[in-house]
Amino acid sequence: MLRPPASIIIAGTGSYLPEKVVTNDDMARLVETSDEWIRTRTGIRERHFAAEGETTSDMATAAANKAIAAAGIAREEIDLIVVATMTPDMPFPSTACLVQAKVGLGNVTAFDVQAACSGYVYALNIASSMLQSGAYKNALVIGAEKTSPILDFQDRTTCVLFGDGASAAVLSTSAQPGVGILGSIGGADGSNPELLYQPGGGTAIPASVDSIDARQHFLKMNGKEIFKLAVRVMEQASLQILDQHGLTTKDVALFIPHQANMRIIESLAKRMKVPLERFHNNLDRCGNTSAASVGIALDEAFRQGRIQSGDLVLLVAFGAGLTWGASLVKWH
Ligand code: UT7
Repeated sequence: MLRPPASIIIAGTGSYLPEKVVTNDDMARLVETSDEWIRTRTGIRERHFAAEGETTSDMATAAANKAIAAAGIAREEIDLIVVATMTPDMPFPSTACLVQAKVGLGNVTAFDVQAACSGYVYALNIASSMLQSGAYKNALVIGAEKTSPILDFQDRTTCVLFGDGASAAVLSTSAQPGVGILGSIGGADGSNPELLYQPGGGTAIPASVDSIDARQHFLKMNGKEIFKLAVRVMEQASLQILDQHGLTTKDVALFIPHQANMRIIESLAKRMKVPLERFHNNLDRCGNTSAASVGIALDEAFRQGRIQSGDLVLLVAFGAGLTWGASLVKWH
């Protein structure tokens, strides 16, 4: 008989950023933009781009190895792997299967989650529910993204915003009650998919010479609309999950929001009346790494000593779909 554990903890985290740094001045050599515009409108100073031939699964593997080392468990103990990505190595098989082989895990359950920039939070929520069932003991949750190949370097409104990277967490069952992932919520509104999408390459517009000529394989976004929705849904998700647990923003030691635009994070902090210092951000160095973003920020915050045992941490994200999600974690 399956025995549900007392709690699910984040036993270890890891992240990986590719070596190549692309500054705003570098971007200004590609499109008509400036360091000043990008910095003041987004908070981004530089981002990392993966090397040619370096795939999403390569970056995911690097982050996964660090998370496994941080968790201090043997890789044989991992029995589930969930990868969140919107830029898989290939449409199929899943990036999770490729990572399973590259990390050298056993023949464990492996699958991808596609929730764009909310992917890490979605994956965390799914994996923790699977662990909560008692059927799995240790899950590897990964957010990994190689956005650079789907950026249109003729579109200055989008190409300056994104970067590549990966993040990972090992989730483990624990006998200690009241710690770890206290709860999670998610949501989606699929009524307006073209607000942020990659039109070509799927079954709607299969890859063809025409689709490539029409630049349909690149990311397209209505930035202004997404900006407004982002602030609203991240505020709602944060307040909803806190309310479900009888908590308020005052109880949260650190907010880890999706890193899309510093002005989105500032507006969120202002609307929730929380000092900006309690929001971790790394936009200046990473840009928007989509599904990897929340995990990279979490790993960084923990390694910088910003998260201590007993702290309440709120992860919150939004992304294409529109999707959104939040997780509440009491650090063990
Ligand atoms: O993970 C989710 C993904 N995305 C997001 O969360 C993005 C959400 N949206 C945003 O972050 C912002 O809307 C942007 C950063 C995309 C744009 O900022 P904005 O303050 O909303 O600018 P805007 O779109 O209103 O554009 C203002 C001006 C325009 O020029 P005109 O029409 O006023 O002459 C743009 O053409 O800025 C121009 N512009 C640029 N100028 C220099 C747009 N992009 C650039 C650029 N460099 N890279």
